[in-house]
Amino acid sequence: LFAAGQPARIDAASHAVAGYMADLITAKRRAPDDSLLSDLIRARDGEDRLSEDELVSLAVLILVAGHETTTNLIGNGLLALLRTPDSLHRLRDEPDLVDAAVDELLRFDSPVSMATFRFATEAISLGGTEIPAGSPVLIAPGAANRDPARFPDPDRLDLERDAKGHLVFGHGIHRCLGAPLARAEGEIAFRRIVTRFPRLRLAVPSAELQWRHTRLMRGLEALPVLP
Ligand code: HEM
Repeated sequence: LFAAGQPARIDAASHAVAGYMADLITAKRRAPDDSLLSDLIRARDGEDRLSEDELVSLAVLILVAGHETTTNLIGNGLLALLRTPDSLHRLRDEPDLVDAAVDELLRFDSPVSMATFRFATEAISLGGTEIPAGSPVLIAPGAANRDPARFPDPDRLDLERDAKGHLVFGHGIHRCLGAPLARAEGEIAFRRIVTRFPRLRLAVPSAELQWRHTRLMRGLEALPVLP
């Protein structure tokens, strides 16, 4: 779905996942259960309810938005820790620091480098660039997360810093629906990894690591480690 520069592959994957979800919705309509999908099928706002297309698109969004992101939070965050062993050992010795560390790991190398498209509702001048009304705007929250005016010495991983002001989950009305779940998953994963594998280290030189060629997401092809 995120294969950059391969529109035919993205198109085929989009249709496949939408088809899968439409079939699942049909099955849940017949046999409702206590799943989120059944709740969405049942949801009413007065006389209004979600159309079939809205249901498919919302369910696919939640499925996809919840997977690639958290996977890469764990991969990118772990890589940042493996590259700064002091931080890794600090967490191993004081696992209760993990909660606050998750925000710094998110800020330092976010799994989502770009937000989704916006369209300017009126002409605006931003940072010296004129944006005409109606033009698409692609924002890179990853850049804001390395803004030295907000995060001094931003290219340094610093588990002590207060990183809570990051924009990893977006901002405003479309802020990430799954942010608390993602933070919880990250916290559990990092806590378990650092305590269960106290001598964890990279199995290859970090220059050999391959980053995936994707739009929107940022993550590794693989993170080989030695226990
Ligand atoms: C570390 C993990 C995650 C990151 C970095 C992340 C990041 C983001 C960002 C930046 C947005 C806003 C996009 C924009 O405004 O253009 C967003 C929206 C969203 N996220 Fe996440 N996300 C994560 C995990 C999750 C999880 C676990 C779920 C669901 C289980 C989820 C579901 C959604 C949904 C449904 C939206 C759209 C909200 C809306 O448009 O109103 N995300 N996410």
